[in-house]
Amino acid sequence: MRLLVTGGCGFIGANFLYAMRERHPDWRLVNLDKLTYAGNLGSLRALEAEAGDAYAFVHGDICDKGLVSRLLVEERIEAVVNFAAESHVDRSIEDAAPFVSTNVLGAQTILDCARRAGVGRVVHVSTDEVYGSLGPTGQFLETTPLAPNSPYSASKAGADLLARACHETYGQDVVVTRCSNNYGPYQFPEKLIPLMYVKAARGEALPVYGDGRNVRDWIFVDDHCRGVELALLHGRPGAVYNFGGAAEMPNIEVVRAILRLTGRDDTLIRFVTDRPGHDRRYAMNFDLAARELGFAPSVSFSQGLERTIAWYQANPAWLEEVQSGAYLTFMQSWYKGRA
Ligand code: NAD
Ligand code: TYD
Repeated sequence: MRLLVTGGCGFIGANFLYAMRERHPDWRLVNLDKLTYAGNLGSLRALEAEAGDAYAFVHGDICDKGLVSRLLVEERIEAVVNFAAESHVDRSIEDAAPFVSTNVLGAQTILDCARRAGVGRVVHVSTDEVYGSLGPTGQFLETTPLAPNSPYSASKAGADLLARACHETYGQDVVVTRCSNNYGPYQFPEKLIPLMYVKAARGEALPVYGDGRNVRDWIFVDDHCRGVELALLHGRPGAVYNFGGAAEMPNIEVVRAILRLTGRDDTLIRFVTDRPGHDRRYAMNFDLAARELGFAPSVSFSQGLERTIAWYQANPAWLEEVQSGAYLTFMQSWYKGRA
């Protein structure tokens, strides 16, 4: 297969490229990435070094219609997996504009260019956050009405609806995947788990929003990548598939587990001003993906967290490299008002 992966220099995209390279050594993988603050070429150094002609990196924006169309034709792309996005809720609260641009207009550009170029399938990678927030019980189903609460999730929902419209209007082969919170190697240290690792490793205070009882359903990134691969290979055109890790945890328990694994104690925990519009609980029902795709998460939260912390401990140079000037500026301004 000749596959275009967008956003491959980000957290999940990089893990996906490594997984596809390992499982499908005969595939041609083309990675289109704008290299925003969240994109890091360093994450793919090992792939670049060993893959030869099986892998190519293209620096560019998914909103650039001319570039995307050219790439699809010149590379004779057969399928696209669209990971490229602005992905951090807190940043979307500060400024929604890049989220609308990349997550909505970029997705539209990918869908339209792929259709015009006769690309077989687009897998659009989305999130459980499009469903909004749950009370203490229940799970999100693919049929749960979309009720996004943050500018990030609103922009992702916009793209999901465009994907649906492309299937209904043009009969385009589009599959949407919605996954719960990922963690694992190469995750940018603005998201809960790597941020708390960085703070704990330095002996700094760990900022927990609100009462720390918000619940997320954690999935190890390899399991999500397997789900996307299954959707790409076996998904029904026009279908939406939920993926989850069957590992619901209140944030405070995640933070305590990281403190234990780094040899620190709970005195580092600081409860800080809550995130505005903070979704209380996410939980995914992935029966459809289990039935139609054979999807099942394979890594437990305790195994996955141990592997993740061990990876960060073994890769201080990667962490150093991604914490650049732009990262520091946002982190300082966002957390200043919350302590
Ligand atoms: P990330 O922020 O780590 O990486 C995003 C990548 O996209 C970066 O490499 C960035 O340079 C690139 N990018 C951004 N704008 C671009 C543009 N206009 N053109 C080309 N490239 C661009 O994100 P992630 O955590 O790897 O998430 C990947 C996808 O998975 C996103 O669509 C996200 O919404 C979705 N998702 C993430 C999670 C999660 O827990 N991280 C859960 C469910 C779904
Ligand atoms: P995050 O990793 O940003 O993912 P999302 O908002 O997409 O679920 O946050 C995960 C949870 O951790 C969420 O409930 C917010 C919380 N959180 C904190 O308590 N403190 C922090 O500094 C961050 C970044 C997140």
